[in-house]
Amino acid sequence: MKKNISPSLLNIEKGKRHLSANELIKLGINWIHYDFMDGIFVPNKAIEIDEIKFIKENTPKHTMDIHLMCQNPEEQIIKSIGIVDYATIHYEVFNNHQEIIDLIHKYHRKIKFGLSIKPQTKVKDIIPLLKHINLVLIMSVEPGAGGQKFIDNSLVKIKEIKNAIAKINKNILIQVDGGINNETAPLCFEAGADILVSGSYLVLNPTKEKIDLLLK
Ligand code: DX5
Ligand code: ZN
Repeated sequence: MKKNISPSLLNIEKGKRHLSANELIKLGINWIHYDFMDGIFVPNKAIEIDEIKFIKENTPKHTMDIHLMCQNPEEQIIKSIGIVDYATIHYEVFNNHQEIIDLIHKYHRKIKFGLSIKPQTKVKDIIPLLKHINLVLIMSVEPGAGGQKFIDNSLVKIKEIKNAIAKINKNILIQVDGGINNETAPLCFEAGADILVSGSYLVLNPTKEKIDLLLK
């Protein structure tokens, strides 16, 4: 896939996120990343599904993914159907692979699935699950907050997942989230990423120049 940027609206004030989304779309953005947090899997709260629905209704069409940083993603998946394109669940909240496969099979006709791993989780743990998903999200910071520093080891993980995907010959997108800026973005793309989430670097003061630097 062509390199792409999916801005995160996490750090935009509630009530103004649709304005920010419109501004980003005017600058050429066609994919937005929506962060959901339950206050348990991560200490904070973020964007609710009702707000995502409101943003969808008040913006031009764009690809939407919801990053489900929560212990019980099923409830949010049900609410997200018909609103977002991709629901990304966290590997760490499940007890075993079968639980993940069962959840995906229950809803995969209605929504595409992403699977995310935290910085400490190994790529090899999710390789057997690749055939069930459409997207892998490599977290390059600990989930829970914007504005953190990119963890360098994420570049190795991007290469590992890229190789694993090539072996099974399936179209699975690689998204990377956390600490993306003009320096880390080119490294991630070079390692094999398809879509980079950009929060604090881009969204507080978005410009075409910044987007171009991320895509360089
Ligand atoms: C963090 C969220 C990210 C966050 C990224 O837990 O998943 O999407 O908004 O923010 P930056 O780009 O500032 O690291
Ligand atoms: Zn995110």
